[in-house]
Amino acid sequence: MTDPQIVLTERVQQALARAFGPEHADADPLIRPSQFADFQANVAMSLAKRLRRAPREVAEAIKTELADFPGTVEVSGPGFLNITLANPWIEVEAGQMLADPRLGVGTAAPAQTVVIDYSAPNAAKEMHVGHLRTTIVGDALARLHEHLGNKVIRQNHLGDWGTPFGMLIEHLLDIGEQAAVAQLEAGQGTEFYQAARAKFDGDEAFKTRARVRVSTLQSGDPDTLRLWHVFMDATVRFFNKVYDLLGVTLTDADIAGESMYNPMLQKTCDDLEASGTAVLSEGALCVFPPGFTGSDDKPLPLIIRKSDGGYGYATTDMAAIRYRVHDLKADRMLYVVGNEQALHFQMVFAAARQAGWLPDTASPEHVRIGMMLGKDGRRFKTRSGESVKLMDLLQEAIDRAAKLIETRDYDAATQREIAHSVGMAAVKYADLSVSHDSEYVFDLDRMVAMTGNTGPYMQYATARIRSIFRKAGLAPADATASIVLDAPAERALGLHLLGFGELVTQVTLGSEPHRLCAFLFQTASLLSTFYEECPVIKEGVDPDTRDHRLALCALTLRVLETGLDLLGVPVPERM
Ligand code: ARG
Repeated sequence: MTDPQIVLTERVQQALARAFGPEHADADPLIRPSQFADFQANVAMSLAKRLRRAPREVAEAIKTELADFPGTVEVSGPGFLNITLANPWIEVEAGQMLADPRLGVGTAAPAQTVVIDYSAPNAAKEMHVGHLRTTIVGDALARLHEHLGNKVIRQNHLGDWGTPFGMLIEHLLDIGEQAAVAQLEAGQGTEFYQAARAKFDGDEAFKTRARVRVSTLQSGDPDTLRLWHVFMDATVRFFNKVYDLLGVTLTDADIAGESMYNPMLQKTCDDLEASGTAVLSEGALCVFPPGFTGSDDKPLPLIIRKSDGGYGYATTDMAAIRYRVHDLKADRMLYVVGNEQALHFQMVFAAARQAGWLPDTASPEHVRIGMMLGKDGRRFKTRSGESVKLMDLLQEAIDRAAKLIETRDYDAATQREIAHSVGMAAVKYADLSVSHDSEYVFDLDRMVAMTGNTGPYMQYATARIRSIFRKAGLAPADATASIVLDAPAERALGLHLLGFGELVTQVTLGSEPHRLCAFLFQTASLLSTFYEECPVIKEGVDPDTRDHRLALCALTLRVLETGLDLLGVPVPERM
């Protein structure tokens, strides 16, 4: 356990127990980073009240018990404890971290089965920019949980079923399978959908055909199912192109679309009805989870079977939650989905709990994803008001990135590789660095900037360190000298790095990748001060200092690269 804040917490708690009795062993010592020392502990003030003693006196008593603490403790003001760690302690911890393949990141004990529902584009429409965030944030969470040793089960809950498929299949037949497949694979899903829709609205005969097709599809007619597969396979091939470009870990094995639940829907409804959880209301089968009311103060229904007998989005999610608990044996279920579906998930979770389908050990959580806005502060759209195509956007990010590096004299293939890496880092990091539930403005200019809390800036920090190692003629893995933190910039960087392990655990448990971004950004900023103040390979730097600094550089590089990798942000060798 290298995180100084945790080490300090334990030490102060032990001191509290010794000074005031064992009942104080679990008190929160209220340790915060401080301007005046490394940390400040504020526990003396709150404790003094309870003990009816003077805060300064309490603080002094704690200080006395911290006599063997590796650092200095001072009482200041009304009873603050200012704590500064001794350099040798930080140096030893940093050295151990450098030797630790896990960089101080713990493993989950016991390991949990974490089901993560993310990406989930709809096949009846094109994968649009709104699915970008759920894909990127979900993938980062999957990587983080896996790193902690949890068993991650990815579930790509594709929108691959429902009434639109009648008209989509008829349209596919009209234009011919080959042409349809080519169009869908090329990411023209929206155009395909719009053409089908136009015929559906304007052509009665087509409309009739589409309706008939919906029922043959639902009745499981083999020919119709084959056509549905043709449509879906081509669509999924396009989704996979997007995932490949983004470096997202989803594969075909992770697809668990709405259609997968079809065979379970009737039983889902029957069981809910039999247990009394669902009741008939105006012909529809509904669950009225307690605590949900509409604007008219009437109980709000979660409709699981419409009055015409049809199943909907909520039915599928009820089947899915039971499947995830029972078949996948989930301990945790994350639903990485847009904010606007918050009510839906609250009701689904409440209904599942009401039905007794959620043991205490399996908690579902909606990881709310905020909307992506255009520069005008409205939902992100093209000038003509259409939703922006994901592929176009990613391509534009890559083109901008290519401009950034066009003056470098790399060969064309290397240029392309770096541009791809920088472009994707720009888009992904921008998505991850704001808290997942807040809205954010999609602004490519800001995303590809080489300064500020951006992907390219983070990549640049790693490239800078790599270039030091190239000049030193040493591989980072071979920088194994001890870490010495004499200069203030070295000390600040070394102390900060020690917090990495605990932070990764916190970020994972709390589904907060933006906090990892903030940590890495702080790392890069401290690195940049170090870089200015502490020459590493300049002439005149004595060999020992150089080796100590190379070791610190190596540790910093590994923290940055590991952190970015956990976020799914690519890192090029050079920039
Ligand atoms: N396909 C849905 C959409 O695009 C998201 C599905 C999310 N997952 C779920 N289990 N409902 O809005």
